[in-house]
Amino acid sequence: MIIGSNLLFFETLPSTNTHTVSLLKKNNLQEGTIVYTNYQSEGRGYSGNKWESEVDKNLLISIVLFPSFINPSDQFFIPMAISLGICDFLMRFIPDCHIKWPNDIYVNNDKIAGILIESSVIGNKIESTIAGIGLNINQEKFKSYALNPVSLRLLTGMSYDLPACLNQLGTDLDKRYKQLIAGNSGQIKNEYVSKLYRLNEWFEFRGIKGVFTGRILTVGDSGRIKIEMKNGEISEYAFKEIEFIL
Ligand code: BTN
Repeated sequence: MIIGSNLLFFETLPSTNTHTVSLLKKNNLQEGTIVYTNYQSEGRGYSGNKWESEVDKNLLISIVLFPSFINPSDQFFIPMAISLGICDFLMRFIPDCHIKWPNDIYVNNDKIAGILIESSVIGNKIESTIAGIGLNINQEKFKSYALNPVSLRLLTGMSYDLPACLNQLGTDLDKRYKQLIAGNSGQIKNEYVSKLYRLNEWFEFRGIKGVFTGRILTVGDSGRIKIEMKNGEISEYAFKEIEFIL
């Protein structure tokens, strides 16, 4: 076991990702260490967003990885593997979930988990990666309705044992990470693409030039999404160059 081989718990933290960065600077943390907490006062999401999570209700974790076997130009395989591991976990309890590109985990049209990957690349080598995951388990009321949050509890009406969930999630993520180590990145990519939210369906997107109708065809190894427009033109977009209209 790599992911989950060492667990570091803190009752509260500003952010597990921020704390893991500072721990890594001072200590030799073993690969697969999971730093987790019951509450974050400054939980971070992408683009300066905050991550909302009530005390003791959800999983708030950061995983330390040293994926030096991955070329920095291929680093999108890390969020692909992490997203699939979270889906493997969720599908033990619910029939299906999807990955809203690049790495939001969705059930129907609602977000159940967010991933914040922060890597340190020196020269042509990924020195370390911190994979932060916020996974909504038992929370029933959210303040940030604009971000269409949902939890396992809201979906199934059941409440879940958090330590058991952490243990299972660690096992599911570990399997996916080992697939990457074994060189099965092609399989990771195929499964990731097949689980994409709104794959192959016509929907509206907001690009740099305005709103257009398009359908997702695939995602390249670099993480850029390929979208076909109604006139048959196919374009690739990087994160932040395009937005889903929900
Ligand atoms: C997003 O959807 O914008 C990403 C959200 C990531 C939230 C998790 S919670 C654990 C870890 N620590 C943080 O501060 N953020 C990530």
